[in-house]
Amino acid sequence: MYPLIDLFAGPGGLNEGFSSVRNSDGSYAFSNSASFEMDAYACETLRLRETYRHLSRAGRSLEGYFDYILGRKTWAEIYNGTFREAYMESGDKVHREVLGEDSRTQIDSLIRERLLRHKPNAPWVLIGGPPCQAYSLAGRSRRTGDANFASDHKHFLYREYLHILDEFKPTIFVMENVKGLLSSKNGDDSMFQTIMADLRALPSGVTYEIRSLVVDEDPERLKPSDFIIKAEDYGVPQKRHRVILLGVRSDVAPLIPRQVLVRADTPVTVRAALEDLPSVRAQTSKRVPKATVDWAVAEQAALQELAELGSVPVPVGDVLGSTAHLIYRIWIRDDMVPVPSQHQPRPHMVSDLARYRVMATMAERMGKSPKYTDLPAVLHPEHSNVSKEGTPFTDRFRVQVWDAPSTTIASHISKDGHYYIHPARDQARSFTVREAARLQTFPDNYFFEGPRTQQFHQVGNAVPPLLAKQVGEVVASMLAAIRD
Ligand SMILES: C[S@@+](CC[C@H](N)C(=O)[O-])C[C@H]1O[C@@H](n2cnc3c(N)ncnc32)[C@H](O)[C@@H]1O
Repeated sequence: MYPLIDLFAGPGGLNEGFSSVRNSDGSYAFSNSASFEMDAYACETLRLRETYRHLSRAGRSLEGYFDYILGRKTWAEIYNGTFREAYMESGDKVHREVLGEDSRTQIDSLIRERLLRHKPNAPWVLIGGPPCQAYSLAGRSRRTGDANFASDHKHFLYREYLHILDEFKPTIFVMENVKGLLSSKNGDDSMFQTIMADLRALPSGVTYEIRSLVVDEDPERLKPSDFIIKAEDYGVPQKRHRVILLGVRSDVAPLIPRQVLVRADTPVTVRAALEDLPSVRAQTSKRVPKATVDWAVAEQAALQELAELGSVPVPVGDVLGSTAHLIYRIWIRDDMVPVPSQHQPRPHMVSDLARYRVMATMAERMGKSPKYTDLPAVLHPEHSNVSKEGTPFTDRFRVQVWDAPSTTIASHISKDGHYYIHPARDQARSFTVREAARLQTFPDNYFFEGPRTQQFHQVGNAVPPLLAKQVGEVVASMLAAIRD
């Protein structure tokens, strides 16, 4: 098994994908040696998942694990015997650390110790993504005019990743970031070009050939946009566009043919991802809207207005039977989880419930989310600041439609459900954590620790595991080329 070191591991999306890759003889291709992450809840999620993997790979009982994640037993009730042993062992793999100059010595010595457990010069892989907040377009527009933006240390956390590359020289690395990285600037310098230049000039002299996972082209001729991966092209039911760099150490690069991901035969839709989940309704929150409106009357008026629009036929097609849908379903489901956990809706204000219902009806008719301006006036939010300049999103409300991939599940889903309105009119609510997790392709047996806000945050931050699995397959087959 090839060792993996995971930096800025989040809840472990990349790791989950890589960890599920198998060789042709059925054995696992990768084994996680160490994950580094600063968030306490994400670390708990990683550790629980590591425990699950440990038990499952060893063919041990998973009863305690499922009892816990499905809420049948408390932690105290399951924390004994083989589960406890596996949990203790997994502590060796998950490290709650703040990567930065101050922690370099400590993290270096941990990595050194882990790599010493393997044969000298054995191939291994570094995965991870320095945090994306400072590069993301949403993050930037929220911070327009912020004089400290250029000095934000998050801009430079990629240097921690480069330091590990330089110090330990993995055979292959995978570095993920938001698409905003390509347009992000530090003064007049493009952040992307700065990172590429730093990558080419690592102090130890080690060099990497930087390949694209989607464009089969001589690395010297690749354009920045060739590094963008559109998750929806690879069987993920979500439009998520990310930059992924695949680095192959120059001494082995000539032995490893280029390889790219294989596109899915059809997109996977929100319907395929969510339709089988139990229908659930939101509780109403205790918060009272500022103005008093008779929402029942308002909704009737809005629906009448809609009726006059007539209906637009939405093509459903037979994509539900495609290979991509089948692969997705097999990946997500687990017979041990007949009813997935973490599927409780957040409470919503009564006013939002009416708005969601009407918007979902409109979306069904239009085949796309209505814009704010399409909404009958009676349903405009009273606290509307929608058109105010500087508001990051032109629309504060978005219905996700059934027969297309969803829009990006971003970490702000933890704060704002308006952007993730469920397409079923009769459910009138925003997505649950499980729905967000399914759109991110986390299997139903994946459990996110922490309060709900933190669960959403973790899900939104992750690399979709099903995409990561395909990246892992490419990497495993590249490494096999050196072994053969
Ligand atoms: C985009 S997420 C990574 C997602 C992850 N690669 C995956 O596949 O699920 C970035 C993560 O970096 C973590 N992070 C940010 N700054 C950090 C630091 N200085 N040290 C360690 N972790 C950090 C954040 O808490 C966040 O979980």
